[in-house]
Amino acid sequence: MSNPPKLSMHDSGSPVTHAPLMQFADDPIACMRQLNREHGDLAVLEENDQRLVFVFSPELNREVLSNSQVFESRFFAVRGNRNSSQRRVTSGLLSQNGTEHRDSRRMMMDVFTKKILPGYHQTISQIACEMTDKWNAGDACDLNSEMVQFMLKMTAALLFGVDDAAFAYRLGALIDRWVHRNHEIGMGALVSSPTFAQGYDDLLLQAEELEVSVREMFQTHRSKQHDRTNILSLLFEAQKHQPQLTDNQLTGHATLLFAAAHLTTAHTFSWTLFLLSQHPEVLQKLHAELNANVATDVPTFEELERLPYLDAVIKESMRVLPASSYSQRVAVQPTTLGPIRINPGTPVIFSQYITHHRPDLYSEPDRFMPERWTKITPSAYEYLPFGAGPRMCIGAPLAMAEIRTALTIMLKRFNFQIKPMSAVNAHVISTMLGPTSSIPSTLLPCDRLPSSVPVFGSVHNLVQLPESTHAIAIPAAA
Ligand code: HEM
Repeated sequence: MSNPPKLSMHDSGSPVTHAPLMQFADDPIACMRQLNREHGDLAVLEENDQRLVFVFSPELNREVLSNSQVFESRFFAVRGNRNSSQRRVTSGLLSQNGTEHRDSRRMMMDVFTKKILPGYHQTISQIACEMTDKWNAGDACDLNSEMVQFMLKMTAALLFGVDDAAFAYRLGALIDRWVHRNHEIGMGALVSSPTFAQGYDDLLLQAEELEVSVREMFQTHRSKQHDRTNILSLLFEAQKHQPQLTDNQLTGHATLLFAAAHLTTAHTFSWTLFLLSQHPEVLQKLHAELNANVATDVPTFEELERLPYLDAVIKESMRVLPASSYSQRVAVQPTTLGPIRINPGTPVIFSQYITHHRPDLYSEPDRFMPERWTKITPSAYEYLPFGAGPRMCIGAPLAMAEIRTALTIMLKRFNFQIKPMSAVNAHVISTMLGPTSSIPSTLLPCDRLPSSVPVFGSVHNLVQLPESTHAIAIPAAA
């Protein structure tokens, strides 16, 4: 199923592989798989005096993720100078540690409390309906770009109350471009290579442009009355009671929230719809549940709470193709993990993808089988699509509400037929596992099930799809 990367030399009996660290930057999942195969639960990738430590078991995930005093978050590798835009736009939750993180997180928890989810239901339903109103059975559709555009609009509306689509796209595009740049330069901080340094000035310029847009959005937002719940209004409200929460800090929080919310959710939609389309028997069962329990083509908040098969489908999709495929911490004190001594400054990486594909936790781990969720209840460190411990995703309940609601609305109206022989490729950018190419499909009326069809592409390296989806390359005529 997978193409092993060209790792070389490992000291026999030790968990260390000596190989260029660039192999991790080039294809993080293939590299981690190979390390996991060679060394098991704990591995080190070492080049000269640089080391990356990897943990792959639930026990080690717990050890690293629950100990935030020793293993700190350094999500953005390049913070910029003290007074730079880059410093301000990267100053959100993921860059904070210790008491600063604890206090910000407490403030955010009030804003993201589950109690306010019903307040978002109408916005989520409305935006999903606007998208599906434009669709027609028989139309061609690129699932990937459709979901990215959809989530731009949704994220801008839920987070910032922005109903100006053009502005939402501009801001979203600026943030996504900047996230990509951070990824390139960030790998440069983790894994040094001269090519990474070239984009540094560009990163700083992009951060300046982004900050101007975020501030513009603050101004527009403050000048308007918003009748619907949105996160920014709640943050402004919190600011009234906490004068120490400055606009500079809000700039960091707002940017991070958008960056953390947009592509993770878009990729989850794309993967779930792709997997459903290639497993028509699962889709049929899901339709039966939706037809029996959701009266109209827009579900009520209460109806969504009674859809166990939908929940199993989403959980399974996020297990087998987790949008957040790995993340990292940095040791800030000398410590040990198993037999390995870890010096301060060493990056420690955990991986949802590898943990979720362990055969001792999930039988036939590479297959998409929502039924498994009637039999298993994995612990927080065995199943962690939203992370685990004190830094677990703060937006998880909101993301789940978006996914449950919008999937139901889409599937009450349409199914998706993946175009036979198309290439479906996947790659990790800034820890996020998403499609890198289009996912060409055709919209079907909801009473017509799609067939699973052969596709090419690197998605086959990540998930074991039904036999019928295996495309055979026909050699070119001599
Ligand atoms: C399917 C969608 C999503 C996935 C898969 C996801 C995944 C994750 C993961 C794995 C982490 C932990 C990273 C780590 O431990 O290093 C995280 C953190 C975070 N997420 Fe999400 N996320 C999603 C949606 C959202 C949404 C919708 C928001 C906000 C509206 C959000 C905001 C955050 C924030 C602020 C953090 C940092 C928490 C902290 O450091 O205390 N995420 N997310």
